[in-house]
Formats: sequence, C-alpha cells, structure tokens
Amino acid sequence: MPIEFREYVPADAEPVCDLLNGIFTSAPMTQEGWAAWASADFTAHVAVLDGEPVGAIPLCRRTYRAAPDAEVVAWVEHRVGVREDLRDQGVGSCMQACAKSFLQGRGDVLLVYRGAERSDGYRFYDNNGLHDVAYIRTVSLEPTDAKIDGVRWLDPDEFLAADAPWLAIFHHCYGHCGGFPQRGPGYLRRLVRGIWKGAIRTHMAYAVLEEAGQPTGYLVLGQRQASPSDGPRQVMELAVADGSVDRARRLLLAACGRGAPVHYRLTAPSPLAPVLDDLGVAWPPRQGASMIMAHVLDIESAARKVWRPVPALHDVEVRVWTPLREGVLHQPDRPARTLTIELKEPMLSRLLLRRLDLAAAVAEERITLCGARPGDPDALARALPPCPWVYHQIDYL
Ligand SMILES: CC(C)(COP(=O)(O)OP(=O)(O)OC[C@H]1O[C@@H](n2cnc3c(N)ncnc32)[C@H](O)[C@@H]1OP(=O)(O)O)[C@@H](O)C(=O)NCCC(=O)NCCS
Repeated sequence: MPIEFREYVPADAEPVCDLLNGIFTSAPMTQEGWAAWASADFTAHVAVLDGEPVGAIPLCRRTYRAAPDAEVVAWVEHRVGVREDLRDQGVGSCMQACAKSFLQGRGDVLLVYRGAERSDGYRFYDNNGLHDVAYIRTVSLEPTDAKIDGVRWLDPDEFLAADAPWLAIFHHCYGHCGGFPQRGPGYLRRLVRGIWKGAIRTHMAYAVLEEAGQPTGYLVLGQRQASPSDGPRQVMELAVADGSVDRARRLLLAACGRGAPVHYRLTAPSPLAPVLDDLGVAWPPRQGASMIMAHVLDIESAARKVWRPVPALHDVEVRVWTPLREGVLHQPDRPARTLTIELKEPMLSRLLLRRLDLAAAVAEERITLCGARPGDPDALARALPPCPWVYHQIDYL
C-alpha cells in the first residue's frame, strides 16, 4: 500500500497528536493542548498509510526577527516524527520535500530548533536543506543560598497583567538583536497560559529586579510538572535594562536560590553572555549545543524583507546562485549591471537570515562574486549586515 503525502486537515488532529505522543513520550500533549496549539498559524505535513497517519511535520507560522529592520515569515518545525517501523525508508525526507513545496508562496523560511549535531536526527535536517544559523548552549547553575537584594517574586497574575514594562525591558536588552519571533503586547501571557501550561504543563515563577522602585529586569523560571520538585528549572526568559550583566547575574542568582539547579540557554552573541564569566561558569562545549537550523523557502520574498538599500548598489541587479537554485536579491527598475553572489545552500541560509559577514566570506572565498567591481563586497555587506542572534526558551514552541 503506497504512502500518501498531504497537508494536514483538522480531522487529523487526534490521530496525529496520538502518533507524535507515541514518539515524543517525554513531552506528551493533551488533545486540548494540541487543539489550542493548532488553532491558528498552524499547518502540518502528514504521511498516511492505510488511512492512518504514520508521519508528521507540525509547522507553526511565526513573524520572525532576523534583524531589527528585517522580519521574515518563518514556518517552524516541531515534533517531526515517523512511526518507528517505517523509519530510514525516506518517509521523513519525502515529507520535508512536500512541505517545502506546499509552503511556496506562504512564507520565507523554514526553521527548526535541533540538538545533538552528531545524531541521526540532526543529519536528517541537514540532509534536507536545513542548515545551522545559530548555536544555543545550555549552562547549568548550581543552587545557592546567597541573599539577593532588590529581587521580588511576583504572583503570576500580577506579572502577566503588567505587560508593557517587560516588553520595554526586553527591547532595551535585545533591541539590536534577532533570532526570535516578533514581540508584542500579550506575547508572554499567550505563551505561558497557552502551550506551556496546557500542552507542556510547565509551571512558571516570575522574578523582577527593582531599583529605586522601578523594574530594571525580569526572569521567567519554568519547571515541568512531570519533573521532581528539586529537579532543574529552566530560564524561560531573562531580560535586563541596558543589557546589564550585573542585573542579569542578580536575577540568575535569585533563581538559583529556589533550591534547585537552573538551566540557562543562550547564544554566544547574547549581550548577557558575559554573565557566565561573572558567575565563574565555563562556556559549555558545542557538543551539547542546540542549533537553530534554517532553509530559505523563497529567495525573492525573503530578500525583499532583509535587504537594506545601499546607494552604491541602487542600479545593480544582485542575483544569487547555489548549486541547487538561483534567484534575485535586488532588482532595480533599469539595472546598469548584474552582480551574482555564488555560494552553497548553508551560506544562503545564513546570508538571508543576516547571520553572515559577507565581506569576510568573500575574502575567505566561502562566497564568490561574478561581475563584481572594487567596493562591491563592502557594499553588499552593508546591504545584508550580520546581526547577533539571541535565544529565549519561551519561544521554543
Ligand atoms: C527523524 C525522523 C523523522 C526521520 O524520518 P525518516 O523517515 O527515518 O527519514 P528518512 O528515511 O527520510 O531519512 C533518514 C535516513 O534514512 C536514509 N534514507 C533516505 N531515504 C531512504 C530510502 N529510500 N531507503 C533507505 N534509507 C533512506 C537517509 O539517507 C537518512 O540516513 P542518514 O541520515 O543516516 O544519512 C525519524 O527518524 C523519527 O521519527 N525519529 C524520532 C523522532 C525524532 O528524532 N525527530 C526529530 C527531532 S524533533
């Protein structure tokens, strides 16, 4: 019996949720949690055999910030799974190819959060055109009984009702960064009361740092209901005014004062990364890291969102070429000349998500140019400047 590959329909909800709960046994979702998760900005690719789903790629649509001036439409893959007896037969790769095709015209990039670079699962994504654009390390902080002044733990209703101060602190801390979904009023409340509570059953605690009676930082600490009471807590989000490392340190120590180890996940370009030095914690090796992996679904539409106008290139048609495809990044009305950026697919993911120093990549011959004149590499680097990416665990789902 051949496997049918198709887009998800609402009637798939129960069997697909059951299939994926059987694969991701450590984080089962309730049917209600799935229904809420899948109610908006959601689709999936489904593989069906004998009328039963045997594989699925759930996809959440997010407006995702590549850089402060560049937001793309991303489809984020989660809980990608194929029934165990059907693995290694190309079902997962076929689903990836079909998803890329049915998402044409509906988004700019595919994204996935993935750990364990040496695993089969990682290779599966890499083989299917999703490439690393950021590395997330997990730091484990030991419990402490140090007394931290100025930190107050807020009741959930009080924290979640006050939205504006946290958003302001978030933008103060990460305004120059990318790597996360667009933030707006109600963002934390929606996530905390929605997927994290209903589906993943995570209990949150909220710490606020106050100076002269004003909030200058906050930390959201998550604990899975299923884990033991002294099991590790997760920093779901940490933001401080001015990106101050001292403020971040105080909030992290307050979190460590709750009697359990605290896991904090962050990228090297995070403005708060120097806090590890302050805490005397070593930067963990890449081997245990997770990656944000990306595939460009639509070169032209992604380029329109991430390209910054540069006078030196205003009349230059800029094209891109990879061994698999080509497209236009910048199309003037009356081009005076054409310049082509030649690169591999992993570089294309980085280039269009603003994770590449183009001038340096040209100098190192990781990228080549055809039709270039002196000054073009620097002009291109100004049109697509790299941006530091940060990670917040709250964005994971
Ligand atoms: C990851 C997962 C979804 C991949 O699905 P899959 O159907 O096994 O994927 P594919 O068969 O397309 O590809 C997997 C491997 O099979 C190979 N393969 C592809 N087509 C094949 C075919 N026709 N015949 C035999 N092998 C094939 C691929 O080369 C790949 O091998 P490699 O990565 O070791 O080089 C599946 O293994 C799974 O459900 N794992 C558990 C859940 C999980 O880890 N999910 C990902 C993290 S969220």
